[in-house]
Parts: sequence; C-alpha cells; structure tokens
Amino acid sequence: MKKDTLLARTGRDPARYQGMVNTPVFRTSTVIFPDRETYEARSGDDYKKVRYGLSGTPTTFALEEAVAQMEGGHAAVALPSGLAAIAVALWAFLKSGDHLLVPDPVYAPTRTFCDRRLKPNGIEIEYYDPLIGAGIGKLIRPNTRVVFCEAPGSLTLEMQDIPAIAAVAHERGIPVLADTTWGTPYFFRSFEKGVDVSIHAATKYIAGHSDVVMGVIVTNERHWLTVRRAVADYGYGVSPDDCYLALRGFRTIGVRMKQQMANALKVARWLQSRPQVKRVIYPALEGDHGHALWKRDFTGAASLFSFVLVASERQATAFVNALELFAIGSSWGGFESLAIVAPIAPYRTATKWEPGGPTIRLHIGLEDPDDLVADLEQAFTRMKKA
Ligand SMILES: Cc1ncc(COP(=O)(O)O)c(C=O)c1O
Repeated sequence: MKKDTLLARTGRDPARYQGMVNTPVFRTSTVIFPDRETYEARSGDDYKKVRYGLSGTPTTFALEEAVAQMEGGHAAVALPSGLAAIAVALWAFLKSGDHLLVPDPVYAPTRTFCDRRLKPNGIEIEYYDPLIGAGIGKLIRPNTRVVFCEAPGSLTLEMQDIPAIAAVAHERGIPVLADTTWGTPYFFRSFEKGVDVSIHAATKYIAGHSDVVMGVIVTNERHWLTVRRAVADYGYGVSPDDCYLALRGFRTIGVRMKQQMANALKVARWLQSRPQVKRVIYPALEGDHGHALWKRDFTGAASLFSFVLVASERQATAFVNALELFAIGSSWGGFESLAIVAPIAPYRTATKWEPGGPTIRLHIGLEDPDDLVADLEQAFTRMKKA
C-alpha cells in the first residue's frame, strides 16, 4: 500500500464498530471482565488489549497503530505531551553512572530536562556538534547508553546524518533515540534510517490543528517493552478524546504537509531575495548546508524554518511585532503561521551559534503564501522605520 492509501485505512476497523468509519471515542477508567480467568489473562506485557483505562482504549490503540504503521515501526504509545515522551524515553534507558550524548541544538526543554533531572541523578550528559556524523564514535565511552538525535534542530534547522551516527552507535550496541517531530511519520521513515526509538511531539503536524498537546513514541521491536513498561511505570495515559482528535488530524497529514511545504518553499525563496535577510536556513532549499542529507533521508520537509535578519535585536522585535498574519507563539505544525525571535545562543554549550544577526523562526501554515509574503514585506518596512 502506498502511504496515502495507508493513511486513509489505518487505525480503524468499521466491521468491529457497526460500520462506523472512524474508531469511536471510548471513555473509560474501569473495564469489567466476565470471570477471574479472563481478568487475570489481561495482566502482563500485552499493552494492546483493554484492561484498564490508563493502559489505553480502542481509541488510543487506533491512533498508536496508525502512527506506528505510517512510520514503519513495531508499535507506538501515546503520552500527554511531546516533552513527556522525550523524558520517559530517556528514563527508560538510563540510570546513574551512564553517559548520554545529546546534540547541542536540541529542543531547549529537552536540554533542561537533561540538566535538571538526569544530571543530578548521576547521568553524565555530553552535548555534541550536530554535524558530527560518524565522528560520534570519538565521543562514545564504555558507559554510553543512549545517543540522542534531533534532525533537524527545531530552531537552527541543522541537519544530522542519522544513518552515519546510528551505524557507529549500533556497532557498540547503543540505541539511537531521536526527536523526529520535524520529519513526522509521513516524511521520515525513522527505522529505515537507523533510529530505534522515534519520539514525536504529536502536538505539531500529527494532530495538526493546534488543539491537542500530545506525544507519541514509536519503537522497533527490540526496544518496545523497555519503553512501554517505562510509560506504564510512570503512570502516563492520554484522554481518548485527545486521541480521537489526533487521529482525525493525522488522516490529513499528507495533504497538509505537502501544501505547507509548498507554501514554505515559496516564502523561503522570497526571503532569500530580500536585502534584510542574511541567510535562510531550510534543508529543503538547494544550497542549504543540510540539503544533501535532507534529500537523501526525507521524502518532504516540514514547513518550519529560520532566517537570519540583517538587523539589531531591537529591530527584530519591531519586525515580529509588526507581523499581522503571522502570530507570535510557541509550537508549530498547526494550520496557522507563526513567528518567533529564536533564543539560541544561551542554550548552546558545545558549539557556537553566531549567524551575524537575530534568528527568526517561521512556521508556515495553510494561508495563501502570497499573503504571507505581503505580510513579511510590510513588517520589513515597519522594521526599517524602527
Ligand atoms: C522539536 C520539539 N520536540 C518536542 C517538543 C515538545 O512537544 P510538547 O509541546 O507536546 O511537549 C517540541 C515543542 O515545541 C518541539 O519543538
């Protein structure tokens, strides 16, 4: 089945639900059983059967199945946020005395989690140059237990060579955990590229409508129980209503992302022609430092990219404040365009980020790109006056 056909068919079973085309919302805490034998048969490590609301409902399983199948993983589990998914996945593999490798441009709250939660518990964190590729071998120690990746970084869009990193890590039996939110299960086949545990902020393109906060972890077969048991041990569950919304959003991820990528390319190319712009950082653009890796490993690009302004910080503030169609806000992956002045330098320790001006991150939504370009143009004019 091609992926758009799979997207239309996965995660539902009308024959089971009286012909209903979507898997309904099952709200429950208690699941009751006819006898002790059936009840006891449901305990244990099979996490894909209902036994108690916390461990999932048919609605939860429908979403998890859809995401896992699209990405080509063994199984998936939903969590209450992308950050929770990252935190649990890391805890699942690490204990005191272990060494963890994390890319320098990693999503800032992931860095905070590492520094504020893992480090005081005896886990050594080492931030590495995201462009290191196979050179990661030099950083691996006897106690390295996880190599974490994020490709590309969500502010600086630096692309990582995940297959090269994974080849080295796997030679030494180390699993690769990756934040694959930008690639999504639709544009990035994580497991074919060497990822063992793929972590998504489903809040972004998976749910896709800026109305759900959720994380999803997809794993290969080998690491499934390590991750799934950790999720159970920490007591995480997700509301079936949110799972329903996320799966409804996920059905259209293909059309949304293809359109948003086309819109983003149009806006990015226009920005490249502007004198106020020093550099546009978007792996989908020819000439971008991550373009070759992106072309090799991804089948499309998210509509999230950054550019460097030829301006002062004060002018950068004036620029984003002048935008009318782009809203200022965290997150991305929804239908609407967003802009932020990206706070990067304070969060780097292994490498420097000195692009020569403020970095603006844009999320391009489903608006007409001509209107977005006009909005950016008027904001440049107002910036100049500032
Ligand atoms: C790259 C990346 N990973 C993870 C997250 C965390 O997702 P959530 O907001 O659902 O916790 C975000 C959110 O902005 C993100 O940008």
